[in-house]
Amino acid sequence: MWHGRFTKDTAKTVQDFTQSLDVDWRMAQADIQGSIAHARMLGKTGILTPDESARIEAGLLKVADEIREGTFTPSESLEDVHMNIEARLTEIEPLGAKLHTARSRNDQVATTTRIYLRTRLQALRENLRELLRVIVANAERHTDIIIPGYTHMQQAQPISMGHYWLSWHEAFRRDSLRLDFALASLDECPLGAGALAGSTLPVDREMTCETLGFSRPTRNSLDTVANRDYMTDYHYFASMFMIHISRLCTDLITWNTQEFGFIVLPDEFCTGSSMMPQKKNPDVLELARGKTGQVIGNLVDLMITLKGLPMTYNRDLQEDKRGLWASLDTVESVAKIIAELLAKVEVDEGLALAGLEKGYSLATDVAEYLVMKGVPFREAHMKAGRLVGWCVKNGVKFADLTLGQWQEHIPEADGAMMDILSVRESVRRRDVYGGTGFEQVRRQIQSAKESL
Ligand code: ARG
Repeated sequence: MWHGRFTKDTAKTVQDFTQSLDVDWRMAQADIQGSIAHARMLGKTGILTPDESARIEAGLLKVADEIREGTFTPSESLEDVHMNIEARLTEIEPLGAKLHTARSRNDQVATTTRIYLRTRLQALRENLRELLRVIVANAERHTDIIIPGYTHMQQAQPISMGHYWLSWHEAFRRDSLRLDFALASLDECPLGAGALAGSTLPVDREMTCETLGFSRPTRNSLDTVANRDYMTDYHYFASMFMIHISRLCTDLITWNTQEFGFIVLPDEFCTGSSMMPQKKNPDVLELARGKTGQVIGNLVDLMITLKGLPMTYNRDLQEDKRGLWASLDTVESVAKIIAELLAKVEVDEGLALAGLEKGYSLATDVAEYLVMKGVPFREAHMKAGRLVGWCVKNGVKFADLTLGQWQEHIPEADGAMMDILSVRESVRRRDVYGGTGFEQVRRQIQSAKESL
């Protein structure tokens, strides 16, 4: 394509080294969409005649069909998806030689990747919405089930399992805002920026922008061909999403162990052992967690590629896609399978309560009860703490203590206090906005449903 300036052919090794066809071929249809918009604009502005423009568009549609039917095999010797499509177009329709007027691969590749990424992110939005829907449904199913809440992996206070699910609704809802931001970030049309400085020809950037469904043309041609922020914005969303998934997986893996035992995973989402007949392993959760590093790695990979690059386009930028595809594929498959798995997770309430029996998770309730009777919180905390220490030493649970024993340690204790000392009362009484009280959880579910 550039032989005018050269006396020798590109070396085979260089062809192999510089080609990107194996990576960028998946954008073929998006590339043709961009080219059709460009060809129409060339015809409308008089840069080409309307007839030339129409014939180029017809040729492009034919190439699109050939690709869809698999009858056109691209060649690595033509470097990338863009050159392959243009070359095939020109075979079918010699006017294809006019398509690249007022265009560079630099604005072309930026346009093509934005179109492709936009389609994938819109699909991801639906996957995320389904995940959120399942989480809210779980919150509804499990509102009245009580599990231990942990800080430092130590039993802290009893919580509603519905409240736990809703905590993930918050995290994934923030992720969906980050995804929307990535979509907004790519929503500008690069066509017309040319190689870096625009064109001497009277292109109509508004027209190509509108044809391709972007909100506005990019504002600066230099930035247009240098910019990959819309990819890093996606990668940041993807990384945060996977970090959330990974933490969720750790909870479920832990609570599914024999030691905790209160989460029951669906058989069809677990695998067995080739040697140990009793095993039922949470491999899906472990793999989802295990893929997180790759997704974060792809964010870091692109950031490092970008950080030393001068304005404007540099060939380094061709390396922006491999990690992007890998991450898109991973996030999509993880979002789907985790949603399917979560929909079938069950809670063994008996085991969850049995676990709570071992701890002293109502100690805060005792201290707060004393506060209501006028005891300063620090003093109440000390009294309840001393009693826990005594119970631990003597191997007694709160539930084993008689009112008399309570009063030996805490003179302010009375019958009304005994009435609130159950895990169900403890959860119910945390009736503060955003808290775990059953009524609050129901309210949160309602508002989550509205936001869906
Ligand atoms: N395949 C290239 C890429 O992905 C297209 C741009 C090539 N531009 C250039 N000036 N050599 O970035």
